[in-house]
Amino acid sequence: MPLLTPSRGRTAPGRLAALDAWVCHAERALLLRDDGAWAAAPFVDLGLGDTPATTLEAAAALRAVRPDLAVVGVDHDPARVAAALPFAGAGTTFVVGGFDPAGPPARLIRAFNVLRQYPPAELPAIHARLGAGLLPGGLLLEGTCDATGGVLVSHLLRAGPDGILQREGLVFHTDFSRGFAPLLFRDRLPRDLRRVAPGTALFAFFAAWNAAWNEARAALPDAPDAARFAASITGLAARIPGIDLDPWLVAHGHLAWRPPGGVP
Ligand SMILES: C[S@@+](CC[C@H](N)C(=O)[O-])C[C@H]1O[C@@H](n2cnc3c(N)ncnc32)[C@H](O)[C@@H]1O
Repeated sequence: MPLLTPSRGRTAPGRLAALDAWVCHAERALLLRDDGAWAAAPFVDLGLGDTPATTLEAAAALRAVRPDLAVVGVDHDPARVAAALPFAGAGTTFVVGGFDPAGPPARLIRAFNVLRQYPPAELPAIHARLGAGLLPGGLLLEGTCDATGGVLVSHLLRAGPDGILQREGLVFHTDFSRGFAPLLFRDRLPRDLRRVAPGTALFAFFAAWNAAWNEARAALPDAPDAARFAASITGLAARIPGIDLDPWLVAHGHLAWRPPGGVP
């Protein structure tokens, strides 16, 4: 698979902690599922980076829900796997590998900040290869964030009964450290959604969120960004379908959007 530029391995402690929290809240049933092959189905962190910090943090967070969860950190760079191996332990392994995960089918695969260097035309094939490593019903989180994880967007790609991935939705997260406006997320969209052209569903989504955001700013001029973010989500839900109004999500800076028919 051709890389556009050499693959950097930079990561940072805490960078994906908000996504871990989202998984524990929104995908608790996926973590706990235990029938048949699910009993041994791991969480796979694909593209672990130059330190295993975010893999180990995910292991700790997800094991608060499911203590016996198997965790596999994968990278195609043997040096990055060698650096992680001293941190292997009960239920936590690190292996050299790529987009075709070996081992038992996974319940959850995270491929974060991995695909930025691959040509957009390759993305459907890469998603399909990653999805082949999931149990039916399993979830692929593929996306991008900034250096600290303060602005993050993830695809929710769910393996259907036939194993084919469905483009179920998108999760947006911010910690408000960079202020807020919906357009903050445009630079962090997953690789295959970077072109937000007029006429596309994503363009309409951002136009609707911007309108809701401007309305929230006008209604709450002195409120903190987090409160205006919450109000903008209510306004967005009035404009387009598929917006998750779960109060926990809103209070933690998450927006989950599951458009009817899936993400185009
Ligand atoms: C920028 S790091 C991301 C680290 C961590 N996931 C994060 O988000 O902070 C990207 C990692 O993906 C790995 N990578 C890139 N292409 C890969 C592939 N085809 N298979 C496995 N790992 C890959 C790189 O070696 C690098 O360590």
